[in-house]
Amino acid sequence: MPLQMVPVLSKADIAKKVSTLAQRISKDYAHKEVVAVGILKGSFIFLADLVRELTIPVQIDFVRLASYGSDTASSGKVQLTKEIELDLRNRHVLVVEDIVDSGMTIAYLLDHLRQFHPESVKVCAFIDKTERREVEIPIDYVGHVVDHGFLVGYGLDFDDKYRALPEIFHLRQ
Ligand code: IMP
Ligand code: MG
Repeated sequence: MPLQMVPVLSKADIAKKVSTLAQRISKDYAHKEVVAVGILKGSFIFLADLVRELTIPVQIDFVRLASYGSDTASSGKVQLTKEIELDLRNRHVLVVEDIVDSGMTIAYLLDHLRQFHPESVKVCAFIDKTERREVEIPIDYVGHVVDHGFLVGYGLDFDDKYRALPEIFHLRQ
C-alpha cells in the first residue's frame, strides 16, 4: 500500500499556534533576553517562525542531535554532532524542538547544557507526542499535542523527506 498523507495542521493552524506560543514566551521573559537553541535539523522552520514573533531580544544557536536513522522509531541513542557556539553562562536558554517523542533527545540535551551554567533552561516543542514517552522531561511550551502517529512537514522528516512541506501530515501505511 502506498503511504497516505493525512492532514493534521494547516498553514493557518500552525501560524495561530506559533503566535500563541510567541506571546506566552514574550510575556514570561519580559525584560529578559533569551538564547533560543534549536535542535537540528527538525526545528529550523519552527524556530524561524517563532523568533520572528517574539517581542523580546533573542539570540539564536543550534545543536545537531540525531537519534533516528531512517526508521520511524527512536534508536534510543542520542548523538551530538554539532555543539553550541554561544556562551550560555548566566543566560536564559530556550530549547526549541520540533517534536518530543520518547523524550530521550531533550533529556540528553538538558543534561548536556548543565556544563555551560545557564541561568535557566526551558523547553518549547511544537508537537508533544505523548504515547511513547520513556523519560519524564519538562516541556514548558507546547504548540500541539498528539497521542501517536508519525508526522511529517514543517521541518519534520521521514528519511529526510517532506521537511519543506508547509503543513503537517500524519504519514500512514
Ligand atoms: P525523542 O528523542 O524520541 O523524543 O525523539 C525526538 C526526535 O525524533 C525529534 O527531534 C524528531 O527528529 C524525531 N521524531 C519523533 N517523532 C517524529 C515524527 O512523528 N516525525 C518526524 N520526526 C519525529
Ligand atoms: Mg528533531
